[in-house]
Amino acid sequence: MIIKSIKLVNFRNHSEYVLECKDSVSLILGQNGCGKTSVLEAIYILTRGKSFRAVDAEILKRGEEFYRIEMEYENGEKSVATYDGKDKTFTIVDKKSKRLPKKNKYPVVLFLPSDLNLVSTSPNKRRDYFDRIFSQFDEKYNDSLLRYEKALKQRNELLKRDFVTADMMFSWNILLAKYGAEIAKFRKQFVGEINEKFTEMYRSIADNQDEVEIKIETLTSEDSNKYLQMLEAGFEKDLVLGHTSFGVHRDDFIFLFNQKEADGSASRGETRSMILALKFIEAEMILNKLGKRPIVLLDDVFSELDDVRRRCLVENFRDNQVIITSVEGFSR
Ligand SMILES: Nc1ncnc2c1ncn2[C@@H]1O[C@H](COP(=O)(O)OP(=O)(O)O)[C@@H](O)[C@H]1O
Ligand SMILES: [Mg+2]
Repeated sequence: MIIKSIKLVNFRNHSEYVLECKDSVSLILGQNGCGKTSVLEAIYILTRGKSFRAVDAEILKRGEEFYRIEMEYENGEKSVATYDGKDKTFTIVDKKSKRLPKKNKYPVVLFLPSDLNLVSTSPNKRRDYFDRIFSQFDEKYNDSLLRYEKALKQRNELLKRDFVTADMMFSWNILLAKYGAEIAKFRKQFVGEINEKFTEMYRSIADNQDEVEIKIETLTSEDSNKYLQMLEAGFEKDLVLGHTSFGVHRDDFIFLFNQKEADGSASRGETRSMILALKFIEAEMILNKLGKRPIVLLDDVFSELDDVRRRCLVENFRDNQVIITSVEGFSR
């Protein structure tokens, strides 16, 4: 699928804005704060269902009553999202819905400047990153994750009440064990698949003989019975803490560089090459799993990369539709 155009009304600082897209590479140039990332954000909403950085209330242009984004694909299909200050509505071929229907989602490889810090950022942010990618690999992952998060919220609320007993946790424990074990299984599978390609892809960028790997740091199990036992065993501790201390919501993804933690041992250039390799693998896995070439959104990353890595980016995504934002050419 190729995006032909995107139109924004009252979206962030844009009162009205239209971008006609090229089949291959489109460039959005402009100074900081002129609304470049917002354009990518709008594309992301219409392809993935929600923003990667904010809720709709923050996106709606200040002082306005609604926003509207409209995207036209090459085949003539049109997707529209509107937000009226309260609810968002997607309209796709005259059908309205509150959420973007699964069949109308389209895979995206998003590259934000902050991704370049992925190796050393907080476990939360790393987990969010991989959750977002894995949700694209398989909708079932997304479903399990949403159900897990809902159950976790309920269990945590219960833990904060007075007079809580272990029995009261039961139904939430069952759900957390079921979805938690599913998530653990998916994570292991997907990280394994990434690792199969990771070193080779890394070497094609960095041109050396180093080894790279991602390791899941988890205390959980892929067996829901074992998961349940461990969750139940933590009840007293959870009661003291007032939240659920055991589970896949505490997992982390550690980048290894020649078997050592990359955070602290790999150089800045080496970690950047690792991230680039990860992005290329994301695109490849999406193509293999879904049979779709993801749209590639590169937000202001060119200025952060040297010539070799820039060329790698362009070369690797030459068969994808790519939309790039950059401040280059403008004094900062
Ligand atoms: N809800 C909003 N209403 C009006 N302006 C906004 C809103 N949210 C953000 N902005 C402004 O929109 C501008 C666009 O931000 P952004 O897309 O991140 O710009 P860029 O990527 O070009 O630096 C910023 O100057 C920001 O202050
Ligand atoms: Mg920006």
